[in-house]
Amino acid sequence: MNTLSNETLATIHARHSIRQFEPRELAEDMVMTLLDAANQAPSAHNRQSWKFVILEGNARIELAELVSTASKIFDRPASSLLRMAARSIASAPVTIAVINTGDLISHGTELFQVDKDMGFDFFRTMEIQSSAAAVENLLLAATSLGLGAVWLGILYLIKDRILTFLQEPQGEFMAVIPVGHPVRPTQGPNKKPLENVIKKI
Ligand SMILES: Cc1cc2nc3c(=O)[nH]c(=O)nc-3n(C[C@H](O)[C@H](O)[C@H](O)COP(=O)(O)O)c2cc1C
Repeated sequence: MNTLSNETLATIHARHSIRQFEPRELAEDMVMTLLDAANQAPSAHNRQSWKFVILEGNARIELAELVSTASKIFDRPASSLLRMAARSIASAPVTIAVINTGDLISHGTELFQVDKDMGFDFFRTMEIQSSAAAVENLLLAATSLGLGAVWLGILYLIKDRILTFLQEPQGEFMAVIPVGHPVRPTQGPNKKPLENVIKKI
């Protein structure tokens, strides 16, 4: 099958991490369209235990400064990856932070009469997996609208500072995603050949 003749598959193939953005505003309805796509993701027990925090204007600059300052307490490569993340956030007109609310964990551990630690571990994993699906939806929606985005996982290293900044101290850090108009089209790195990641049993 020619995957590129299918719009959804073509978008999946076209998505690449974009780390530098044009200094161009992002229309409010574009941001809402991205978040609506994220919100359509599958989630365990349909709990949608995610929260999307929108950072624009000064808020994103303050976040970039926080990340840049925090980078100094780390050695390389973490320090340079954090500085790179700060530059991406500063250059993007909008950054979306994704937080897990813990709602699935509370709901699930009450529902399932299993060992407390096992229940927590199970539902926390389900929460992370659900939010990862939401993040991927957002990234694909951005690509399909001609926008670029990158999932900044490195900020997990400073998750407590980030959660405090986002005024979500009880939440669990999931992702920070700068979004905007790409400075230039990018190919992205090659993927492993399919045969390397498949086995049949
Ligand atoms: C969980 C996760 C965390 C990531 N964290 C970072 C990050 O902190 N900084 C960054 O520049 N890219 C980050 N990325 C993007 C990856 O580097 C990127 O997806 C990978 O190199 C493949 O490139 P592609 O997205 O262009 O296909 C992350 C991706 C994922 C899925």
